[in-house]
Amino acid sequence: MQNTKRRRPAKRVVVALGALVALTALGAGLSVWRDVTAFEASMRKVYARPVPLVSRSAEPGVLAHGKQLAESVASCTAAACHGVDLAGGRTFNIGPLATISGPNISGAALASYTDGELARLIQRGVKRNGRGVLFMPVQNFSWLPPTDISAIVSYLRTVPGVQRPNGPLRASLFGKVLDRHERVILDVARRVESEPAPSPIQAQANASASYGELLSRACSMCHGQHLSGGAIPGAPSSTPVPSNLTSDASGLRDWTFDDFKRLLTTRRRKNGKALDPFMPTDAFAKYDSVQMHALWSYLRSIPPRRLGQR
Ligand code: HEC
Repeated sequence: MQNTKRRRPAKRVVVALGALVALTALGAGLSVWRDVTAFEASMRKVYARPVPLVSRSAEPGVLAHGKQLAESVASCTAAACHGVDLAGGRTFNIGPLATISGPNISGAALASYTDGELARLIQRGVKRNGRGVLFMPVQNFSWLPPTDISAIVSYLRTVPGVQRPNGPLRASLFGKVLDRHERVILDVARRVESEPAPSPIQAQANASASYGELLSRACSMCHGQHLSGGAIPGAPSSTPVPSNLTSDASGLRDWTFDDFKRLLTTRRRKNGKALDPFMPTDAFAKYDSVQMHALWSYLRSIPPRRLGQR
């Protein structure tokens, strides 16, 4: 009797703590459920986006331009995207966020798309059925002017078909939650829709910092919105930390354009070390001189920040 009485207060504390843990878990569970439901509803949304008019061309100059853009700015042919032959990229896991394999888009794989629907996909991240794509980083090149988009579409139509089945493509629960908290972009069309379109002058290809700013969207995915690097939110600790690309002492202060070009084309860092394979350069190495100079001008024009201020 005595014993039970003495244990009682401790028991009450245990029960109270247990209830608190259960309530917290329930709260967290509810919040995850809310985020996942919102993510899925957004991915099911049918976007009322008109299909643009595209004038397909067979002119060699246009096709060469389309090929250059598909290999560089749009990164279609990157190994982690649709692969060199466009018949599907390699499967990779972005930490615990998602498993991604870019599908086969070679030859007849795109036959069900009209040219206009293909242009809309590249500009808005909206598929043939009006729904958004998962992960395809359309926000990096949605700003390309209509003539560039037509050139890419014209080029894609000339790519020979290669038979290869598509790999897995799915977002995890954690990925869906981080997407709703704007920490990663898996639900692409939602972001592209709210993005202001650049002026035609800014989107004109030249070596200016303002054109470089548009190109740098392909870097901010990893190096952060302000390009100051630091750990990628949600990434496991084994993921290499993206460097600071601003001209701060912790960044590229002592770099020249040639150092920058060497990194993109040969993967050699200024400190002599090889670049970690986590940063893919297959698309960046294909940038032409104007594109590389534009990017470098932009990196030199932004205010220096300490490493990790994303
Ligand atoms: C998929 C993620 C990812 C993308 C996209 C990416 N980077 Fe990186 N980058 C990294 C990581 C991680 C490192 C650090 C690698 C290492 O330590 O070897 C890095 C390193 C660098 C460095 C080397 C800095 C140094 O101190 O040696 C430069 C320069 C650079 N990136 C520029 C760019 C530019 C420019 C772009 C866009 C055109 C870009 N990166 C896109 C992940 C990325």
